[in-house]
Amino acid sequence: MAVLALALVAVDYLVTQRVQETFSGQLRQELAEKARTIALMLPQQNGEAPRESGLTQLANATGARVTWVDAAGRVLGDSDSDPAGMDNHKARPEIAAALQGQVGSSLRMSPTLGVRLFYVAIPYQGGALRLAVPAASVDAQVHAIRNDVLLSTALAFLPIVILAAVFARHISGRLGTIIDFTRQLAEGNFRARLPGSSRGVLGSLSTKLNETSEKLEFMLDRLETEHVELEKLENIRKDFVINVSHELRTPLASIQGYTETLLDGAIHDPVNNLKFLNIIRQNTERLARLTADLLTLSRVELNQQEFKFASYYVNRILNDNLDGMRPIAERRGIQLVLQPVEPEGAEVFCDAEAVHQILTNLLDNAIKYTPDGGTVTVGARQLGALSDPSSRVEFFVRDTGSGIPADDLPRLFERFYRVDKARSRALGGTGLGLAIVKHLARSQNGEVRVESQVDKGSTFFVSLPVHDLGPVAEASDSKLVQRELII
Ligand SMILES: Nc1ncnc2c1ncn2[C@@H]1O[C@H](COP(=O)(O)OP(=O)(O)OP(=O)(O)O)[C@@H](O)[C@H]1O
Ligand SMILES: [Mg+2]
Repeated sequence: MAVLALALVAVDYLVTQRVQETFSGQLRQELAEKARTIALMLPQQNGEAPRESGLTQLANATGARVTWVDAAGRVLGDSDSDPAGMDNHKARPEIAAALQGQVGSSLRMSPTLGVRLFYVAIPYQGGALRLAVPAASVDAQVHAIRNDVLLSTALAFLPIVILAAVFARHISGRLGTIIDFTRQLAEGNFRARLPGSSRGVLGSLSTKLNETSEKLEFMLDRLETEHVELEKLENIRKDFVINVSHELRTPLASIQGYTETLLDGAIHDPVNNLKFLNIIRQNTERLARLTADLLTLSRVELNQQEFKFASYYVNRILNDNLDGMRPIAERRGIQLVLQPVEPEGAEVFCDAEAVHQILTNLLDNAIKYTPDGGTVTVGARQLGALSDPSSRVEFFVRDTGSGIPADDLPRLFERFYRVDKARSRALGGTGLGLAIVKHLARSQNGEVRVESQVDKGSTFFVSLPVHDLGPVAEASDSKLVQRELII
């Protein structure tokens, strides 16, 4: 708007100048011609003043004031004033030019009449003949043209002004939306999105800002998820530390107590000394089991356990395990039943030692938590066609024991989780057996699950691949869970 206003002022100035020049030029020419005509019509006075009436008549006819000046600048005659009362005109610019033989002109105040006049003088009989018209007529014409030009220029600018206003409004509207949006971003609202098209520079700016917002929202969500995971891990870590301390403290306190009792004299008590030493030995064994289990667990979790993967006959694995557990089962009057896999030659791809430990832990539990005279069945079945690269063999250990309440099943494979703490402790359990089973199975590309009914019994399943599936998929879903393992 300011630039347009400036342009308007410039146009006004230039037009006024130009029009004034043109009109002055035309008027000068016109008056000069009239002066020449008057000069022809004036009676030859040979330097004497013409009759007043003659000059006045000529002035009336031409509509201009007529003045006759001699070579010395003296006014010989004037149509509007008495020459006797007039100054010497030699110094007047138009007269000075005419006395030198040229056509002179000037626009100025008349000292005689007190109005602005436009003068033109021509050489005449050694002196000068001058015509003058009021400048007001020139000014009026210049004024009229100037007004017309200004009006038409302003009209020409009007659509530009309207367009500029509409455009500026549009742009500032869109910028306003963008600024509001960035304010929301600055306040942390990354779910905000900019509406509108993707056209033009502002459009692509909106698109980029939307993309930025989307990325920020995505990263924030991820950070929130990781934060929740970290909190969970922190709780797991705290629980773990508390559990380990507790598990270590119980046998240590017992060892300390009975050692002090023996030292205080019970060593000489033939009835109790052996009993106390036996308790100390049991607790020492418990400590050793606990540390061994913790070590196994952390080795598996940290992928430090070396495995020798190969194909093994499923039935061979089952038989070997049963043979190992038979003496313990017999002691409890528990019947061990084998359900071999079909087909007979079915194989599984695993580390034999790991699978042995998995089955031993499951069998140990089954025997431990089944009342005397119960039955424990161990077997396997083929899942999917042998030729199928993703086919699996599912081992199972079924017992007719106490069973596990449904509420406990989801947490059963957590470290130190025990359904009946007192009973587990009494049986010498550390609560790490099933956690070891879970992690060992995962390290073999395997899965574990359990089905159980209270008072009827439980069945634990471990499925392992038949074929080599390549390196074991990360045991954990995210890097964060790796930290859980280190804990
Ligand atoms: N076959 C089963 N029948 C009933 N309860 C079971 C059975 N197997 C496991 N449990 C329950 O699950 C809990 C966890 O078992 P886990 O093997 O991890 O620990 P544990 O047997 O107590 O100790 P250990 O470390 O010596 O194996 C047990 O304490 C027990 O309460
Ligand atoms: Mg166990």
